[in-house]
Amino acid sequence: MAPLPVFRVALLVSFSVFLTVVLGFGLPALLNAVMRILGLPETSVTECIVLLYLAFVLYMATPRIPRGLVEVEGKAVFITGCDSGFGHALAKHLHKIGFTVFAGCFLKDNDGEGAKELEEFHSDRMKVVQLDVCSDKQVNQAVEFIKDNLEDSERGLWAVVNNAGVGAFGEVEFTSMETYKQVSEVNLWGTIRVTKAVLPLIRRAKGRVVNIASTFGRTGNNSWSPYCVSKYGVEAFSDCLRYEMKAWGVKVSILEPGNFVAATNIMTRDFIASTANKLWNEAPPDVKEDYGITHFERAMAQLRSSCSGGQKDVTPVLDDITDAITSQRPYTRYSPADPNWWVRVQLVTHLPSAISDRLYF
Ligand SMILES: NC(=O)c1ccc[n+]([C@@H]2O[C@H](COP(=O)([O-])OP(=O)(O)OC[C@H]3O[C@@H](n4cnc5c(N)ncnc54)[C@H](OP(=O)(O)O)[C@@H]3O)[C@@H](O)[C@H]2O)c1
Ligand SMILES: *[C@@H]1O[C@H](CO)[C@@H](O)[C@H](O)[C@H]1NC(C)=O
Repeated sequence: MAPLPVFRVALLVSFSVFLTVVLGFGLPALLNAVMRILGLPETSVTECIVLLYLAFVLYMATPRIPRGLVEVEGKAVFITGCDSGFGHALAKHLHKIGFTVFAGCFLKDNDGEGAKELEEFHSDRMKVVQLDVCSDKQVNQAVEFIKDNLEDSERGLWAVVNNAGVGAFGEVEFTSMETYKQVSEVNLWGTIRVTKAVLPLIRRAKGRVVNIASTFGRTGNNSWSPYCVSKYGVEAFSDCLRYEMKAWGVKVSILEPGNFVAATNIMTRDFIASTANKLWNEAPPDVKEDYGITHFERAMAQLRSSCSGGQKDVTPVLDDITDAITSQRPYTRYSPADPNWWVRVQLVTHLPSAISDRLYF
């Protein structure tokens, strides 16, 4: 169970108390006035609302309640994108707590450092497999390998974590169709391709599908459309799959991490610099002229600065993925993020856009 950070709890409590005060006094007064006009008794309205809001405050402020754990012994998990970042750390973490891990590595056959490090575990429960999520052939080979190496293939595969992904940025008019397609090829079609290939094994285990989306799977942003498009797609796919899998006893969870760029390889300085060059060089001349180099450089500077920030410790992400895999009742969505990112997602997804657009854009 991942503990809620103190700051986030404090924010939640103050927000809830604020709501309770506003709605607890304002709304009952209004409703009581209506009751008075209708000639009905007043007190019950106030009591009801106060009770409802107390329950709401409690719900918001209570740390995650333990919901029972599944037996880890003998269960296997398949993770994509284990060369670096979340995937690499997750492979080690799940191995440590007793799972058999099939770690898909993009660069296994190219002597990738991450793959080598996992192979050096020399453990029966750590199996590294070559995997490009864009290749039907490699995905099918990886699934065959899993089938052949499961302790008991009749029991199936307990979980798949679709983690492999690439970063991308650039304003719409600077981004080529090629880029849109390449990004979704990995982040979206890769997730769907792998999920479809392993579902028969997962269904057999009545297991779990965990898809790594992003806060950018719920909210858009200037300069992030190629990435947002792919991650909104992951959210849509996961929601539909969740409904379909209910009948099979398979649970589908979505991770929406905030900014952990400093802790992984997804947005390195080199990647930002080379992408910025490509965007400017490949933009149509009239777009360059209309937007201007000053505007472009300001946007790139803002990106660089936000990408040098972010959380440096991936523990909250690992804890949430582990909860999705090991809890008897996993959540549909997990949002490991800084409090300010988390609040922003809540406001942008719940307030009318007329209000949230003014707050953030
Ligand atoms: N870090 C964040 O702030 C953040 C926030 C929200 C969501 N996410 C998501 O979290 C996931 C993991 O990213 P990360 O931050 O840990 O970045 P990362 O360190 O770059 O890890 C991504 C992994 O995916 C692999 N990969 C890339 N293309 C692949 C392909 N075609 N087939 C198989 N594997 C491929 C990469 O391999 P190579 O290194 O060999 O290319 C790398 O190991 C991604 O889906 C990302 O979108 C990250
Ligand atoms: C949008 O992206 C920029 C970096 O380009 C970041 O600084 C900002 O916090 C993001 N805003 C939202 C609302 O996600």
